[in-house]
Amino acid sequence: MTFPSKPATRPANPRFSPGPTRKHPGWSLQNLEDAALGRNHRSKAAVAKLKLAIDRTREILRVPADYKIAIVPGSDTGAVEMAMWTMLGKQGVDVFAWENFGKDWVIDAVEQLKLDDLNVHVGDYGELPDFNQAKPDRDVVFTWNGTTSGVRVPNCDWMPEDRDNIVICDATSAAFAQELDWPKLDVVTYSWQKVMGGEAAHGMLIISPRAQKRLETFTPAWPVPKVFRMSSNGKLDEGLFQGSTINTPSLLCVEDYLDALDWAEEIGGLDALHARADSNAKIIYDWIEASDWAEPLCKNDAERSNTGVCLVFKDQSVDGAALQARMLELLAENEAGLDCGAYRTAPPGLRIWTGGTIEADDLKALIQWADWAYATARAEMMEDGAARKAG
Ligand SMILES: Cc1ncc(COP(=O)(O)O)c(C=O)c1O
Repeated sequence: MTFPSKPATRPANPRFSPGPTRKHPGWSLQNLEDAALGRNHRSKAAVAKLKLAIDRTREILRVPADYKIAIVPGSDTGAVEMAMWTMLGKQGVDVFAWENFGKDWVIDAVEQLKLDDLNVHVGDYGELPDFNQAKPDRDVVFTWNGTTSGVRVPNCDWMPEDRDNIVICDATSAAFAQELDWPKLDVVTYSWQKVMGGEAAHGMLIISPRAQKRLETFTPAWPVPKVFRMSSNGKLDEGLFQGSTINTPSLLCVEDYLDALDWAEEIGGLDALHARADSNAKIIYDWIEASDWAEPLCKNDAERSNTGVCLVFKDQSVDGAALQARMLELLAENEAGLDCGAYRTAPPGLRIWTGGTIEADDLKALIQWADWAYATARAEMMEDGAARKAG
């Protein structure tokens, strides 16, 4: 390997965080001047903003007309747990997980809800579990895009159309980047800070008619806290799906989400967002393919995420965690790349965010710096090792 020289050009914006993700190109605080700040969230003006966020979501994400959309507390986690706590327990459940967040839903199902009839299917970092184990008469919980492993499900073909179950899909880093198979999904959740670079705090919960029916006809055996309640006395809380939130939302965050949706529309909507993520991810995968030091964590092409590309080190003889830490230091102190390390429980390496708000030129600049940072960090570690041996 020839030692790469220190690159001359930095990314114009070095932010590659997986969440909160980078603000969209052209974002400015001034875009938020119309926020209904200081207004009561039940006022006509504030509810109109919340309802607009729901309506614009439906339009841009192409949510089927008979699905209902709510803005809920607790970010994506709140939305997923809301669905798990209110809908599960009626029949058998399969939970599929292959990285950190999916594994959180396993913990909820096993340790908190203590579901009786539960099958857990766990894949290692870099692989999917066996989705052929899913059954049309058992509920399912899964993550569409594993943000911490760079592995996504390519489709929902494993779930038959003729089914009698509830499929809960954590789509938080997939919603604006990947094609969702709506007819196979009864609950879809995400949060504003993933992919769209919105402000964090709120969750989005989208439910199918089947999920609405489950909420109206089934009462779980465990207590359901107020922030999870979507129905009472067998009636869905219709207001929740019209912008009457359960508790107080941030109207500044709502405005910021609306601003991100405006940008999405300006660039061409969902297709453009998908295309930007695809072509951004390709820059990184092509570079990894040609690299003599990096390889993708996800081995199967069809399962590779287009938002968080995870790479690991080919050379397994070095201390990967130390190498990652030093590379991140070098990238950060040169303002060439921020927040692009592997998740703390994932194999060491880099996780480079490639969602729609990221600019291709910034990725092209980052990869030069990553080559330089790897070579520099590795050379330092070798020198240290040699000095220690000699000393
Ligand atoms: C797949 C997935 N699920 C859940 C979460 C948690 O999201 P939040 O912080 O919005 O609750 C994340 C965050 O990165 C995620 O990537």
